[in-house]
Amino acid sequence: MADVMTGLKRTNYCGETSSALLGREVVVCGWVQKIRDKGMLVFIDLRDRTGIVQLAFDDQTPEALRQKAQTARAEFVLMAKGTVRARESVNKDLPNGDVEVYVSELRILGRSQTPPFEITDTTNVKEELRLKYRYLDLRRGEMQRSIITRHRIVKAARDYYDQNGFLEIETPCLIKSTPEGARDYLVPSRVQPGKFFALPQSPQQYKQLLMLSGFDRYLQIARCFRDEDLRADRQPEFTQIDLEMSFVDEDDVMTVNEGFIKHVFREVLGKEVETPFRRLKYQEAMDRFGSDKPDTRFGLELQDITGLLRDTGFQVFRGAIDGGGSVRAINVKGAAGRLSRKEVDKLADFVKTYRAKGLAFTRLTAEGESSSYEKFLTPEEVRAIRERLGAETGDVVLIVADAKDRVVYDSLGALRVHLAKLLNLVPEGSFDFLWVTEFPLFEYDEEEGRYAAMHHPFTSPMLEDLEMMEKDPAHCRARAYDMIINGCEVGGGSIRITDPEVQERMFQALGFTPERARAQFGFLIDAFGYGAPPHGGMAYGLDRLVMLMLDRDSIRDVIAFPKVQNASELMTGCPDTVEDKSLQELSIRVVEES
Ligand code: AMO
Ligand code: AMP
Repeated sequence: MADVMTGLKRTNYCGETSSALLGREVVVCGWVQKIRDKGMLVFIDLRDRTGIVQLAFDDQTPEALRQKAQTARAEFVLMAKGTVRARESVNKDLPNGDVEVYVSELRILGRSQTPPFEITDTTNVKEELRLKYRYLDLRRGEMQRSIITRHRIVKAARDYYDQNGFLEIETPCLIKSTPEGARDYLVPSRVQPGKFFALPQSPQQYKQLLMLSGFDRYLQIARCFRDEDLRADRQPEFTQIDLEMSFVDEDDVMTVNEGFIKHVFREVLGKEVETPFRRLKYQEAMDRFGSDKPDTRFGLELQDITGLLRDTGFQVFRGAIDGGGSVRAINVKGAAGRLSRKEVDKLADFVKTYRAKGLAFTRLTAEGESSSYEKFLTPEEVRAIRERLGAETGDVVLIVADAKDRVVYDSLGALRVHLAKLLNLVPEGSFDFLWVTEFPLFEYDEEEGRYAAMHHPFTSPMLEDLEMMEKDPAHCRARAYDMIINGCEVGGGSIRITDPEVQERMFQALGFTPERARAQFGFLIDAFGYGAPPHGGMAYGLDRLVMLMLDRDSIRDVIAFPKVQNASELMTGCPDTVEDKSLQELSIRVVEES
């Protein structure tokens, strides 16, 4: 049987037990990291969330106590009382490696089986195994730091926005389904058979209604649910730092939020961030970086060479131009040595995953030139392209042509980031902050054959583009902005539509019949008829912000209990089947897939 705690109280965390406490009696608690049993000398590294301290037992230790210590194993939970004393051999790997606790009383509060993997600070253990035993994985120093830093970031957010007059208000998690954007997670109603709640994709509509109610500045650390394909920076449930403000324009929202980033980086990382952030218009971001979330820590900018190829006979470029698309290039300076022909072929495979049909290249090595397309062009065209790109010996020119601009942007945008990693062009430990503004209001949905809201249907068009809502929807710009850090979309928001007439035009442009708009958003449309203040806001992906601040590769590393690719949780094994009785109560019948 395990010992009980009665009669002893923890006085200090393991990591706090430093030379400042020399000679003092302490009580520490934690998990056994390691035990070194040398017969008359026993040392135990005891670990808690603050660090490790060595427990020491020697030939002066009563035998029963020493023998008890010898029964401890990795991951046993111990409580030890003893005196802090200087260590004979200092452990330079620990901040408090110059002291140890010379134990006078030991309790074994919990025993452990041999864990499926060793609890070490960093690890190579497969993520699947780590997630199955997440409670053990979370004991590792790396994970503890992630979760603790996450707490500090949330605390900094609450403090900052509170100091700036924001009120934290909760909005419901069981809401009306509004299938716009990602798919909803649905929750069946028991008392109203056949009816469903949805889990919120974001608190968007409620926070706008709170502005109408006069709360003026709102904040919520909000859990959001989206049934979409998972990636390293996407989870089906994730957390937003969500906010909304009344009587503001874009600049007000951006300024308050630059202030937050400044605050959180200073408080949590001790780093000074310069404000205001750079602003890049959407179109410029696409043209220069092929992405609306550009990583501007390195060059490799895209160049449009369509104009130089107006009369070209080369079918690949000709077809793209005639089809209304473009031909764009990246000049990878001085990379000819690094990018062999074989490597370039791999890059061609890479861009194909972004729907590009191919990757044309010229390698200008000192030994000579090789090109997949120059032989199809006139000498003038070759010269003009090289001149435009500033291509010289040592460079590699990479070109994508497509009848769809989007394909050219996406493939070269992704190639740019891929190349930067491959060629080590990203400066380590640096942060790059910027806003992308003037997003298109609409995005053409090819599958549905209609326009969809690029952000959401409550985002206001730019005032000077109002007419274009009907005349030229593809070029109508929105009062929307995204915050980008190191090429990651950390947050985004907009100024909202508060004019009922504009809202009606928006629904029309999105192909809603008045009846469908009323059925889905009737309460909002009504609300806007009772005095709506101008308002706007934004939401951060908290998980992404934490990931970036900690320089981790996946948001799974900063979420205590994340889900995996197929949206399941490996530890508990959910989602799972439920008993027939539960289904019956909910009037649900499961149709077996044939
Ligand atoms: P948006 O849909 O852009 O805006 O979301 C805001 C931010 O949330 C993060 N995010 C995610 N993080 C992890 N997993 C996901 N599946 C996921 N989806 C989004 C991103 C993103 O920038 N209501 C609006 C905000 C507003 O207009 O005020 C909204 O939800 O970092
Ligand atoms: P081909 O005439 O098909 O041999 O193509 C000549 C070169 O153009 C090859 O290097 C192809 O990879 C390249 N290419 C093919 N399609 C495209 C495209 N859409 N954009 C850029 N290069 C392409």
